[in-house]
Amino acid sequence: MSLRTTHSVDVGHVEDVSPGSGALPPRAWYASSDADSLSLNGSWRFRLSATADAEDESFAAEGFDSGGWPEVRVPGHWVLQGDGDFGAPIYTNHRYPFPVDPPRVPTQNPTGDHLRTFDLPDGWPAGGGAVLRFDGVESCARVWLNGTDIGEFKGSRLAHEFAVGHLLKESGNVLAVRVHQWSAGSYLEDQDQWWLPGIFRDVTLLHRPAGSALDFFVHASYDHLEGTGTLRVDSDVDGRVSVPELDIDVATGESVTVPVRPWTAETPRLYDGTLVTEGERVPLRIGFRTVVLADGLIKVNGTAVLFKGVNRHEWHPETGRALDPETMREDVLLMKRHNINAVRTSHYPPHPAFLDLCDEYGLWVIDECDLETHGFTEQGWRDNPVDDDRWTPALLDRASRMVERDKNHPSIVVWSLGNEAGTGRGLTAMAEWIRGRDRSRLIHYEGDWNCRDTDMYSRMYADHAEVERIGRGLDGGPLKRRQLPFIQCEYGHAMGNGPGGLADYQRIFEAHDRIQGGFIWEWIDHGVKDERFGFAYGGDFGEELHDGNFVCDGLLFPDRRPSPGLVEYKKVIEPVRIEGGDASGTVRVTNAYDFADLSHLEFEFSYQVDGFPTGAHWLTVPSLGPGESAEVKLPATAPDGQGEEVQWTVRALLAEDTPWAGRGHEVAWAQQTVTPRGPLPAATGTRPAADSDRITLGPASFDARTGVLRTIGTTDVTGLRLDVWRATTDNDDGASWQDDVRNGVEWRKLGLHRMQHRLDAVELTDDALTVRTRVAPAARDVGLRTVYRWTSDGTRLRLTVSVTPEGDWTVPLPRLGIRLGLPASFEENVTWFGSGGEAYPDTGAAAKTLQWHTSVEDLQTPYVRPQENGARADVRWAEVGYLRIEGDPEFWFTARQWTTEQLDAARHLTDLTPGDTVWVNLDHGQQGIGSQSCGPGVLPQYRLRVRPAEFSFVFSTVDD
Ligand code: GAL
Repeated sequence: MSLRTTHSVDVGHVEDVSPGSGALPPRAWYASSDADSLSLNGSWRFRLSATADAEDESFAAEGFDSGGWPEVRVPGHWVLQGDGDFGAPIYTNHRYPFPVDPPRVPTQNPTGDHLRTFDLPDGWPAGGGAVLRFDGVESCARVWLNGTDIGEFKGSRLAHEFAVGHLLKESGNVLAVRVHQWSAGSYLEDQDQWWLPGIFRDVTLLHRPAGSALDFFVHASYDHLEGTGTLRVDSDVDGRVSVPELDIDVATGESVTVPVRPWTAETPRLYDGTLVTEGERVPLRIGFRTVVLADGLIKVNGTAVLFKGVNRHEWHPETGRALDPETMREDVLLMKRHNINAVRTSHYPPHPAFLDLCDEYGLWVIDECDLETHGFTEQGWRDNPVDDDRWTPALLDRASRMVERDKNHPSIVVWSLGNEAGTGRGLTAMAEWIRGRDRSRLIHYEGDWNCRDTDMYSRMYADHAEVERIGRGLDGGPLKRRQLPFIQCEYGHAMGNGPGGLADYQRIFEAHDRIQGGFIWEWIDHGVKDERFGFAYGGDFGEELHDGNFVCDGLLFPDRRPSPGLVEYKKVIEPVRIEGGDASGTVRVTNAYDFADLSHLEFEFSYQVDGFPTGAHWLTVPSLGPGESAEVKLPATAPDGQGEEVQWTVRALLAEDTPWAGRGHEVAWAQQTVTPRGPLPAATGTRPAADSDRITLGPASFDARTGVLRTIGTTDVTGLRLDVWRATTDNDDGASWQDDVRNGVEWRKLGLHRMQHRLDAVELTDDALTVRTRVAPAARDVGLRTVYRWTSDGTRLRLTVSVTPEGDWTVPLPRLGIRLGLPASFEENVTWFGSGGEAYPDTGAAAKTLQWHTSVEDLQTPYVRPQENGARADVRWAEVGYLRIEGDPEFWFTARQWTTEQLDAARHLTDLTPGDTVWVNLDHGQQGIGSQSCGPGVLPQYRLRVRPAEFSFVFSTVDD
């Protein structure tokens, strides 16, 4: 089975299913207080070969001259460096980008030789040993120090350590690492992400003083009935454990119970301690908490938790999976600021520093093993490594490397065996090993719906109806599963515009105890920064097989700007519910935290008239405990709107600075209309006048032959007509494997992107201009009879559009409204009263309705693959440049510097350039968004059914 070579290059390990040789047993990852360490990150000499055996191993010998080699940055992926000279990234979702013939890999196996010399720093102690630690190398490495081969390993996102004390010199040490992109390990690492070879996490030399701590296990449980914590630190090397704040000073292995404050994701109380062995002091950050499966529920400290989570891949648009500490912190801060309380480390253990941050800031963590064999689904899971005993040592190696490295993090409450690896004996072996080693956490794995090895029933992308059935316990399944809690380890596929339907899921999650929440797929778009495209996705590097922009499906854009999806999620999962109370002027406040009371919040109250704030008051809300509610009296009486709409807004704000956001940060909010706006002016009474080529009506002029609007006041208007098309979103298009109707596909089949407008009549009467049309696609008998009725009172122009469907429409419409072109100079000035951010029928939870002002450019949402975006919902009125538009009823408002057709054709944002027209859509209806790019489509209540409709706009000119 192993690779044969004609010369003496040892590459047999590359295709060997074993995890490797030479490394030390896995152990806890920690930073010593006093033992020396030397970071070997930085610039390394680098040589790229096309095959594993192209070059012999002489580069590893002392004295080798690498002067002519270029350099790479470590940590880093070579394919993201070298300006294209070092190959390119490949993106596939689940298909292996090489023939499936385990454990064989292609002859063409990009191989990077990395070289670095180093001196020991002054003062590096003479005695003791030393360990060389690699925190992450993709996918297989062999290591030499000073010419000696010290071992080889696989398991890309796991730490590997080697004892090197006996090889070190004071100066001129030569560290050589040969990294192969493909190896037997690649079969276990088929996660949906870019294939990115390289030494992408830290390389560190650790001094190991005599008597240093080797491995240790902090057991810190919490008894919620007694309010006490029990601490015991098991250590390979005996020592003492002290926690001054708790007056703890005990020997390792000894238990001590004292009153403590527990650790939870909401109240992440950590106690600083120290483990002192003869040769070393190790700082401990201890969080007391107990995780159990009780009453069929996941309970922490006696309370069932509701995960409001995200799936996080490690990603940076320039450095790939090589993340700097600031980026990790930014992720945690962004999560906390968006009410997220849980993270699944999909689909591999993250850099350990990320877990430190989860402990510190408070996030529940599902730590997932570096294991996915999804590509075997292409062959009905035949030869799946997780069901083949030859691979079991590699699987156990991965499980133990995860657990041993990460076991001292209080934030980790669940171990996950991996992702999408089918089912098999290897997974059972992993679960058994984990249970034997750590009984203090639960086990997750989604792939086995019978829950043979797991402590919870987990699914991905189950639709609302199924989740509801599961919540009610009507989903059947084996007895074991029926007794387990349920989580959606992935849902709400955040690809492009969306996901839709989150609020509907949340309602179901909260209605049933058995459902303990979910994790949005996923945290961040994996777009690669690229001069050609802004951000590149699959196919942009000429890959033979790829899955396009399926790699851009996050709540954050690649540069970590929050997408509307994240803002929506924040609102949907807000930990305080504020609802309009009774008519006498109250508001109902409910604490939706699992552990915290509301004393950390203050509540701001204000009225708005026509969307404009009128001054703020404080609302006095009692410090409710979890699950409690109160009716609170409004602090002021509503102003007289004099015909304008009057609403109130309540905002729950942080009352004090926290480590993750400052005082005043908004946690939750609600709005309610108290007095609706008055009716729109009828705008009638003026008689239309016609000459040979022009009709005038009040401030407007029309083409006499076609009845098409030309001007309003001094503003030129182009192309005003009915519009039903939108540049399909990833969720409209749906994934190819979806077996239900994919609207985006049906719409195009039907021809909704090329509707023809037939003119039937232009009629002038005493008080109106009426234009009768039929709007329909070629080759089909369906159509929309569309009547535009124009009236005016002399200064204002009113349009009423009536739409009557004809024929048998079997799909909803993308949108229904009018579009019109305005002068490009109007770009800079847009004001409206409606939702502030992007909103569609099923993504509008976070639509805060106020008066807003911005430019057309800033109304765009920069989805990496351009698509319909940027609609503002519930718009009462909008002003674009000099044109004011009022709607009856409220409308969806969109404006762009390009047409929908241009947006539809674009593959990257760089394909879009502003033209000489601002295109405005005023929509009476929009189809919902759903989540069909990898999940359920649009729920029935958010579909834009084809039926008769009538809607009006009143146009006028804004004064200078
Ligand atoms: C899941 C998988 C994820 C990702 C997602 C779609 O099946 O676990 O890794 O591929 O679908 O984006």
